[in-house]
Amino acid sequence: MTKKNDPAPVSGATPHTAAASGADRAGAPPRRRLIDRHRVIERNATLLLVFSLLVVTVGGIVEVAPLFWIDDTIEEVEGVRPYSPLELAGRDIYIREGCYTCHSQMIRPLRDEVERYGPYSLAAESMYDHPFQWGSKRTGPDLARVGGRYSDAWHVDHMNDPQAVVPESIMPSYAFLGRRRLTGEGIEDLMKTHRLVGVPYTEEMIAAARADFRVQAEAFGDTDELLARYPGAQARNFDGDPALTEMDALIAYLQMLGTLVDFSTFNAAASR
Ligand code: HEC
Repeated sequence: MTKKNDPAPVSGATPHTAAASGADRAGAPPRRRLIDRHRVIERNATLLLVFSLLVVTVGGIVEVAPLFWIDDTIEEVEGVRPYSPLELAGRDIYIREGCYTCHSQMIRPLRDEVERYGPYSLAAESMYDHPFQWGSKRTGPDLARVGGRYSDAWHVDHMNDPQAVVPESIMPSYAFLGRRRLTGEGIEDLMKTHRLVGVPYTEEMIAAARADFRVQAEAFGDTDELLARYPGAQARNFDGDPALTEMDALIAYLQMLGTLVDFSTFNAAASR
């Protein structure tokens, strides 16, 4: 290469002069390079639009079409089951109160998240969530694995007065939940609605919904049937108050979050 301030070559080789381009070759018509042809498209808005749409369409088909031929986009994972009636009611309260505006429910596969919150979230863990609660807004911590992290009593204290437990907290108080009684009314309809969007609630589950709802919040209830239908469901008087309230349902929901898959035996490669 000749540098800029090198003395000019004495004769012959002048690599970057017009002599090298086709235009100046005597007699030959100017050679149209690919870039020149592209200029035609770039200077014609309609043509550019048509070709852009074509490119986007091809890309779209390549991405979307395979989804029509695979049976499932979510691999099933052992332990994941639909919510029990009480948990489902708790989940509705969670959504109604807008907890998701401050809390996400998805642990990303990044080291800092896994060290703080536990194993990263699997798609299957939210396969029965309609709508899912992943989110990205974390004014408060992620709740995907909050189940079992604190005692029920801690949750009651925290819901009643967050600052009593965490002085610097900006979470509002939800003490009123402990005063709102629940009977399980409408739970069958809620389950049927979830069934419409693909949650496999059976007729038997729906028929027993009211009974399951109550027994899960009892201190010493007969939980055999509940556990047969919803393996691993935790049943007890969640808020310590004999009345069945929204607080019970919400805590039942919080205490099961992220607990369905046993990560001591889970093998991501084996379930692929
Ligand atoms: C205005 C934002 C905000 C809203 C709304 C909110 N939270 Fe929180 N939450 C926080 C903050 C901040 C913290 C961390 C400090 C603390 O523990 O109070 C927190 C902490 C928590 C924790 C403890 C998590 C942990 O791992 O330590 C739970 C459980 C929780 N919130 C549940 C809820 C529920 C359930 C609702 C809805 C009824 C809710 N939050 C609504 C901001 C919020």
